[in-house]
Amino acid sequence: MGARPTLTKPHFFSLDDIDAVAEAVRAHAPGFTPRVGLILGSGLGAVAEAAADVVATIPYADLPDWPESTVWGHAGRLILGYWQGQPVLIMQGRAHYYEGYTMAQISLPVRVMRRLGADYLFVTNAAGGVNPAFEPGDLMLIRDHINFMGLAGLSPLRGPNLDAFGPRFPDMGHAYDPALMDLAREVAREAGLTLREGVYVGVAGPQFETPADLRLLHQAGADAVGMSTVPEVITAVHSGMRVLGISGISNRANLDGKTTTSHEEVLEAGKRMTPNLATLVAGVLARL
Ligand code: HPA
Repeated sequence: MGARPTLTKPHFFSLDDIDAVAEAVRAHAPGFTPRVGLILGSGLGAVAEAAADVVATIPYADLPDWPESTVWGHAGRLILGYWQGQPVLIMQGRAHYYEGYTMAQISLPVRVMRRLGADYLFVTNAAGGVNPAFEPGDLMLIRDHINFMGLAGLSPLRGPNLDAFGPRFPDMGHAYDPALMDLAREVAREAGLTLREGVYVGVAGPQFETPADLRLLHQAGADAVGMSTVPEVITAVHSGMRVLGISGISNRANLDGKTTTSHEEVLEAGKRMTPNLATLVAGVLARL
């Protein structure tokens, strides 16, 4: 008899595991059903302060199996409340693959959001600007992504398919919802806010890219590069959620080898982008 792989967490979560986390969240806010899940990336956590009517704040450590963010710049708590009248579940900080988590752990929060009732995922991140026209401080609407960590094998959907969420082989041809993109464009126009658009490439990190890495990514069609988002978006699309993705361009990617990139720079730019990101998210929420 050959040994069987153990198909359990942290590599794969069962529907019961996921529902247990959802139940733990519900215990903090009985009767609250989020419509939108919002993930706030590096240095962008303060966007949550714009959300009024907080119903509950839950440290990630109080939830079973929830991956804690170990990186400086991520508060590590869940905020449930109403923003522009919409029930939202906000993640102030996220876990990344480079921290040592599995793809299943990184994407667990999205599955919990879905089981709690969320139909939308708004996902944000700090990213390096690969497109030379982009300036630090710009916001970029993600039109599509390149799954650099996934093309060779890393997928949050690896393992037994959970049919309750979606099919074994989900289509990714329309991962970023066109109607949500239109709403974001409309909000930016009305607020007089510059909104770039482009392709986000997800890499594993934690090291920043070499100039040669970046020239490759640029030639491949990337406009921004970061170490998150793609696994969460794949998980959301698999489960039928409609996704809006926004990158905050925190630094110019070092294509010519003449600059350096640091986490401090990324967090500092995050602070500057927070008001515009809050305006954009609030505007889209108000139009949903
Ligand atoms: N590269 C990768 N990830 C990042 C960057 C970058 O330049 N900036 C912020 N996140």
